[in-house]
Amino acid sequence: MNRRLEFLGEMGLAPLWRLRARDAPPAEEQNQAAPEFEAGTVSVAAPATAVPPPVVTLEAAPAAAAGADQRSLRIARLTLDELKAEVKACTACGLCKSRTQTVFGVGDESADWLIVGEAPGAEEDARGEPFVGQAGKLLDNMLAAIGLARGENVYIANVLKCRPPGNRNPEAGEVARCSPLLARQIQLVQPKLIIAMGRFAAQTLLNSDASIASMRGKLYRYQGVPTIVTYHPAYLLRSLPEKAKAWEDLCFARATVAGGTIKK
Ligand code: URA
Repeated sequence: MNRRLEFLGEMGLAPLWRLRARDAPPAEEQNQAAPEFEAGTVSVAAPATAVPPPVVTLEAAPAAAAGADQRSLRIARLTLDELKAEVKACTACGLCKSRTQTVFGVGDESADWLIVGEAPGAEEDARGEPFVGQAGKLLDNMLAAIGLARGENVYIANVLKCRPPGNRNPEAGEVARCSPLLARQIQLVQPKLIIAMGRFAAQTLLNSDASIASMRGKLYRYQGVPTIVTYHPAYLLRSLPEKAKAWEDLCFARATVAGGTIKK
């Protein structure tokens, strides 16, 4: 990594995700030229094609559907306020012992766009809001690159509502206990599009063990909601070249919503 970028990174200033052009171009312009964006001080070459990849619609079997237990069935009937209370008081897995607080989600509760990440980190655990650390800053920049902003027609949630100690990976049992909460959250928000960020979100929502690389560029459905997959912002912070691919995914997402081929 270039020394200057490393230095900026240490200062919490990089990488930025900034469109050179002030406004994101409308979807119909995507075939013409992908805008350049900057990653820190490194100019990332615009992807060769910002054209949305071919759409393959795949219906994922909801993970919870197979063996829906009493708890899942009860959660599936909760209102949003009841669901928030359920999460706040949740002791369904061991993470309740180490969390400072639960992190339910943030944003417009009837948003068209739903971002699903992995789990709260230290800052999210302290503040009770998803994606408020370094990865969150990049997420905000990614949203801005396609003309979106946290809280404005965007809702952000995680697979896990509690921080795994030391930011370790979520365990299968934790994901299983949390999944009915996320499923109900998605039903209540009723987004037009879900962007699953990172392996845990993608694999949980799509009930798959495939890699992000193999899931990108396809249009899935989760409970009937169009769903696309991209890299997690924390991964992008470590792998700057992958930002070009994430940019393609965002263009695909924007074109999918703008295309009007999906119904709410
Ligand atoms: N990473 C996530 O997946 N979610 C957060 O809320 C923060 C970091």
